[in-house]
Amino acid sequence: MQLIFLGPPGAGKGTMATRVADDHDIPHISTGDIFRYNINNKTALGLQVKSILDSGELVPDGLTIDLVRDRLGQEDCSKGFILDGFPRTIAQAEALESFSDIRCVLNFSLSDEIIVDRLSGRRVHKSSGRTYHVLHNPPKVSGKDDVTGEELIVRSDDQVDSVRKRLSVYYEQTAPLKEFYQNKGILHEVDATPPPDEVYESIKTILAET
Ligand code: AP5
Repeated sequence: MQLIFLGPPGAGKGTMATRVADDHDIPHISTGDIFRYNINNKTALGLQVKSILDSGELVPDGLTIDLVRDRLGQEDCSKGFILDGFPRTIAQAEALESFSDIRCVLNFSLSDEIIVDRLSGRRVHKSSGRTYHVLHNPPKVSGKDDVTGEELIVRSDDQVDSVRKRLSVYYEQTAPLKEFYQNKGILHEVDATPPPDEVYESIKTILAET
């Protein structure tokens, strides 16, 4: 099972990818998580991309493509994988064709208004990437991670200016991928508006039928 989760920032791709990956015992590969891990650990890659992520722009294609190609070559991807946040440009999608065999792309859609609500209420456990929402998916204890009890943070790119930039970058560079995959007959629409359990049920139905 090789899947792509496509959609705007804050659509719930990461939340759903975690659940599908657990159910199918396949890795959830989020390029955003990989970049943030490197930023948190102050690696050379992290230092290179920190200001790009903070601004809401995209990391250059060449660097991102090499990173994903290496990751998909690892042993745990032999049974399949979920790509969350990659590809994000036509160049990335074309490159991906040379090192994968994607047959199913889920496109998450929802309004800009809901996106802003979701991102402004998002809280994250920094070291694991576990994600919560203050209203829609709250932790058991306010402000604390359910598993470790550690403090939750607000992602630096969830500030208003950065969110605005991420949305415009999405419409300019990533939204055209819908047509790219539609033309290949492998795009499936997911209404990402309902609560998480409902969205998950609709994903399960799509995956059972493909
Ligand atoms: P990335 O980390 O991929 O960010 P994104 O695509 O903007 O997506 P998000 O993580 O913001 O949202 P999500 O859809 O995963 O939503 P979530 O599940 O958290 O990328 C960050 C940056 O890295 C980019 O801006 C770029 O700089 C760089 N980058 C990454 N990949 C790149 C690439 N391929 N090329 C170049 N640069 C790249 O949910 C959001 C909130 O909503 C949470 O609080 C959650 O609890 C809540 N929620 C989820 N589902 C529901 C629901 N159904 N109902 C109510 N609330 C919900």
